[in-house]
Amino acid sequence: MLIDTHCHLGYDDYDNLDEIIRSMDGIMIASGCDDKTNLEVLELVKKYDNVYGTLGIHPQEIDKITQNSFKIIEDNINNPKIVAIGEIGLDYYWIKDNMEKQKEIFEYQLELATKYNKPIVVHSRESIQDTYDLLKKYKLRGSIHCFSSSLEMAKGFIKLGYKIGVGGTLTFKNSKKLQEIVKELDLKDILLETDSPYLSPEPFRGKQNKPSNVYFVAQKISELKDISIDKVLDITSNNAIELFDLKA
Ligand code: NI
Repeated sequence: MLIDTHCHLGYDDYDNLDEIIRSMDGIMIASGCDDKTNLEVLELVKKYDNVYGTLGIHPQEIDKITQNSFKIIEDNINNPKIVAIGEIGLDYYWIKDNMEKQKEIFEYQLELATKYNKPIVVHSRESIQDTYDLLKKYKLRGSIHCFSSSLEMAKGFIKLGYKIGVGGTLTFKNSKKLQEIVKELDLKDILLETDSPYLSPEPFRGKQNKPSNVYFVAQKISELKDISIDKVLDITSNNAIELFDLKA
């Protein structure tokens, strides 16, 4: 079964969102990033059986935090279709002048995940050591989404209890380093994702991405590891079902 463990499904992102969702023969986990997208995720999980969601405040959106932001998350955290807190984390690539604030908001959400015993979906860009140091303080589980660091780091996160989220960038010609990492990792530690509408895999690089393209990520892993696509899908889907407690 196809499971896209991380995508963004918003009516602002797609002119034809309902069509895109209906064209996915499998499960999608839509991630919120701010109040607006968190509320949209809640609508989508209500509307579609095969859409699950995560609620969180993304590091690039912390300036938009309102009095309501964490209330939206906590009020809905026990909705059985809200399977994690995310997308949360640290991003020192886009914004460097609020690192302390980012850490504070990230940690606040790590505490929420601890309080409600939920997995997390982590965004980390140019911030891998700080991300690791903070996660090490908590006993949580989840996905290091769109992983782009070293094999050593990947192993460190796995040891803490996390899975490594692998998406379309794996298929890019200049992704040799990530391809080597994926070759080394055990499939039981990998989750497939698209990060739609961004980061379309080859052969659609540069075009708008969609959850069903997660198939091309599985195809690339099958090539790299020289095993069948079915085996890749079986094991990684099981990882997702277990981690996020999906009723597949
Ligand atoms: Ni994302």
